[in-house]
Amino acid sequence: MTEVVGLGYVGLYATDLEAWRTYGTEVLGLQDVSAAENSDDQTVLLRADERGWRFAIHRGDAGGAAYVGWEVANRPALDALGERLAAAGVAVEEDPDCAAVRRVEGLLRCTDADGNRLEFFYGARVPKRPFVSPRGVRFVTGDLGLGHVFFFVTDLSAAKEFYLDTLGFRLSDTIEFHGRKVHFLHVNPRHHSLAFVQNDKLAPALGHFMLEVDHIDDVGRTLDEVNTRGVQLTETLGRHTNDLAISFFMKNPSGSEVEYGYDGRLVDDATWRVSNYDATSLWGHHRD
Ligand SMILES: [Fe+2]
Repeated sequence: MTEVVGLGYVGLYATDLEAWRTYGTEVLGLQDVSAAENSDDQTVLLRADERGWRFAIHRGDAGGAAYVGWEVANRPALDALGERLAAAGVAVEEDPDCAAVRRVEGLLRCTDADGNRLEFFYGARVPKRPFVSPRGVRFVTGDLGLGHVFFFVTDLSAAKEFYLDTLGFRLSDTIEFHGRKVHFLHVNPRHHSLAFVQNDKLAPALGHFMLEVDHIDDVGRTLDEVNTRGVQLTETLGRHTNDLAISFFMKNPSGSEVEYGYDGRLVDDATWRVSNYDATSLWGHHRD
């Protein structure tokens, strides 16, 4: 079993911070808290729930994710995870300076098998002032953590070894199509907090991150915003075979994609059985 209890936060690079500020608030419905959090002018901070922030957009032209923050329950859990990673030969170190910047009580950092920067933390700051979505959206987070991230990996067996064997994430199921097998992993009842698939042609990359809202109308209203504003839709509305989420996919200003969805299935580890699906979607999710 892993000490990780959920996806905590995501850091991204972007060359156009103002585009992200507009997209994050007016399309996604996140709250811009850069000023409230005294962020520097090189970073946009976005809030999705009671946590002080969930997304940090940093000025920079590197692709992919800057970092992914995985939450553990408390200091003993962080220490235990650090010891397990070190015993497995992973170079991991405590970083108090980074913890201060991320506004958490304790933080370890390392890289995964593909060199993606991971941060493990506990003690996220919860401000008194309430979360106010500029579009009236409520995101499904809490015990399920912040949606999920999807990575293209260059060495599937190394990724499986790191996330399943070393970190202890649990396999939910796989989807096999076009000769590749997508792996979906959970750390709490959310069907998956992480998914990855082999990508032979490109460098390791963040494919998308997913935000879940609590009402289908907020998926529809966001889709209206996407169409009205000319945001590039990358997959039409559809329902996934495995997690049963109704969602669509679009480009974000960092060049990766956002999956915006509703009604994701929950996993009960006491009764769950792994399946292998032969399609990603029951309907929809068409790419041009
Ligand atoms: Fe997804």
